Amino acid sequence: MTQEWQQAGLTADQRADIVVKAMTEEEKFAWLSGPMAIPLGDEPLPEGAIGSAAYYPGIPRLGIPAIQQSDASLGVTALGNVRPGDNATALASSLLLAATFNPEMAERTGALVGQEAFAKGFNVQLAGGANLVREPRGGRNFEYLSEDPLLTGIMAGYSVRGIQSQHVVSTVKHFAVNPQETGRVVVSSDLSEAAMRESDLLAFEIANEVGQPGAVMPGYNLVNGEWASENAFLLNEVLKGDWRYPGWVMSDWGATHSAAKAALAGLDVQSGANLDQQAWFAEPLRAAVARGDVPQSRIDDMVRRILRSLFAVGAIDHPAQRHGDIDYMAHRLLAQREAEQGIVLLKNSDAMLPLRRGAKQILVVGAHADHGVLAGGGSSAVTPVGSLRLPGVDFMGIQTDKVFQPSSPLWAIRAESGAENVDFVSGDNLDETLKQAKKADVVILFAEEWRSEALDAQGLALSDEQNTLITAVAAVNPQLVVVLETGGPVTLPWIEQVPAVIEAWYPGSGGGEAISGVLFGRVNPSGRLPVSFPASEAQLPHPQQVDPESTTSLPGMPVKGGIIHIDYQVEGSDVGYRWFARTGQTPLFPFGFGLSYTTFTRADLQATAEQESVQVSFTLTNSGARAGAEVAQMYISPTDERFVPRLAAFQRVELQPGECRQVVLTLEPRVIACWDEQQQAWVIDAGRYDVVLGQHAGDVSLSVQIDIAARRFGY
Ligand code: BGC
Repeated sequence: MTQEWQQAGLTADQRADIVVKAMTEEEKFAWLSGPMAIPLGDEPLPEGAIGSAAYYPGIPRLGIPAIQQSDASLGVTALGNVRPGDNATALASSLLLAATFNPEMAERTGALVGQEAFAKGFNVQLAGGANLVREPRGGRNFEYLSEDPLLTGIMAGYSVRGIQSQHVVSTVKHFAVNPQETGRVVVSSDLSEAAMRESDLLAFEIANEVGQPGAVMPGYNLVNGEWASENAFLLNEVLKGDWRYPGWVMSDWGATHSAAKAALAGLDVQSGANLDQQAWFAEPLRAAVARGDVPQSRIDDMVRRILRSLFAVGAIDHPAQRHGDIDYMAHRLLAQREAEQGIVLLKNSDAMLPLRRGAKQILVVGAHADHGVLAGGGSSAVTPVGSLRLPGVDFMGIQTDKVFQPSSPLWAIRAESGAENVDFVSGDNLDETLKQAKKADVVILFAEEWRSEALDAQGLALSDEQNTLITAVAAVNPQLVVVLETGGPVTLPWIEQVPAVIEAWYPGSGGGEAISGVLFGRVNPSGRLPVSFPASEAQLPHPQQVDPESTTSLPGMPVKGGIIHIDYQVEGSDVGYRWFARTGQTPLFPFGFGLSYTTFTRADLQATAEQESVQVSFTLTNSGARAGAEVAQMYISPTDERFVPRLAAFQRVELQPGECRQVVLTLEPRVIACWDEQQQAWVIDAGRYDVVLGQHAGDVSLSVQIDIAARRFGY
């Protein structure tokens, strides 16, 4: 049957209007509040649900499919093994993606996730983690991209664009200022409007512009004392007002706290209602409408926003098909290519790497490298068939495992090293490990740090056992490479004793092969740190952490203690490298840092300011003997030091040996603007600015000055 909305030439908004008019109140409310769509306790899987984060029934008489929502940014998950035997490609952690500084890679890997979601029958992917890494110990930093708003916004935006290219709506989440997991359901992130607009909100703003996500998910947290899910400033004023965001706002699972208040503040859907105190957006919201507290037009607006987004990405014209036809081999290769671009070479004394092929004896140690690579825990954990599952955490009443995804570095090293012998030891037995290490030509030691949703890392150190092991192995065999699989920065107390260190993050389904490629030189490392590595926790704006014992981190759990206020005004918008610059501290490794097996030279730096466009150009030459990629990074600050240098543009450039290219970078104006709360506008002050072409945030060796005119712009 042809539907009225199928008439040619209608926009997504017009089609949504037509459908809303035809919907009954029952049908509308069926979309505004729903349980988690996995069997929980005695509650069975809702009829029609595939089994995932959420399900809302279709409206066949109007040609509207059911809404099936799955997690998350790193691949299609099956929380609590809800779809036994379901395979999926695991992408590397988002930190690794950001380390590529390659928006095209974000778009391609996003499309991979969208394609797998579509082929499994999902039309909404709960992806697009775009919180700034404000708290380096944050439990979910592996789902977020970076400490910088421009890098985060661009990479999240392209990833969302990729997902939505497959007729699957993507969220961005968790809006906003949601940097810590411990106590996440009772933590208030306190921060001035100006600082927020210049940092966390800027990241989401850019992600929205680039990716045009169909849905936005507020965080569990409070912002300046109001829950994010009922924060009128965030939702109505900034998101739907200033940014003219046309899609829908869905709460996080069990993060809705009211009916009328939330509805009037801009929340459109209560997700995971069975984890909340009440199904707020069911009877209580109906009652609020009946009382006249919430206008009927607001209910229609909620539903219209959902439909509009589904139409805009083609999810209604091309309903997701549960055909399961996925080219996992091709996807695994793309995941590998991503990892190859985002692994960061942190240290390489005396050009120890790449390792010579054909050694007699290589010893691989630790981190289940015989089996696979570590993944972060919680709702985003992808478990490809063949994953090693170890006991993890109890997460919202569901046991979630510590997962090692099946891409064995040991086997990749065996295939690629040309060595006579490659042995593995777990590292659990120190004496045995040292005995084996002494005999090896080279030792490749894997160290891991597991992070998970709902709990922050307690400190930035690797486990004592691993630090002891690394120090002891370095003492018996100086031919040692340490490969880190971590959920963010860690401290490296043994750095002086270890000649080569690689940060492999959580590298995903092609991680083993990617690591081996970097070790043996098939891959020239080109990843750059998207987060600063502090020398110690004392350098952080918040050296102390909230005690996990004193608080509640899971929705639906009895609340321990009260609201915890965290004063993020300490650093304000100066997150990460900007904090280090402002306080004159030197981190262990700066933001933007990463080594290569080739060398690059930069020359002829020029900056021009024409009307509203500021550009720098320079020539970049690969002056070494191998093909490689450099990430050009432009930092800018006023010469009167009103603020510290900020990343204003970047570009990843691949060059053959001897090749030379002119590179042009265009400044993002909001990066040098300050938000004027009185005038509600961005203000760029006239004056002279230093434009630095840095190899990382701490490198000031090449710079020019430029005069920039005053400018003021709003929404
Ligand atoms: C997470 C969300 C996720 C949701 C559904 C929540 O615990 O915070 O990111 O999308 O669960 O699984």
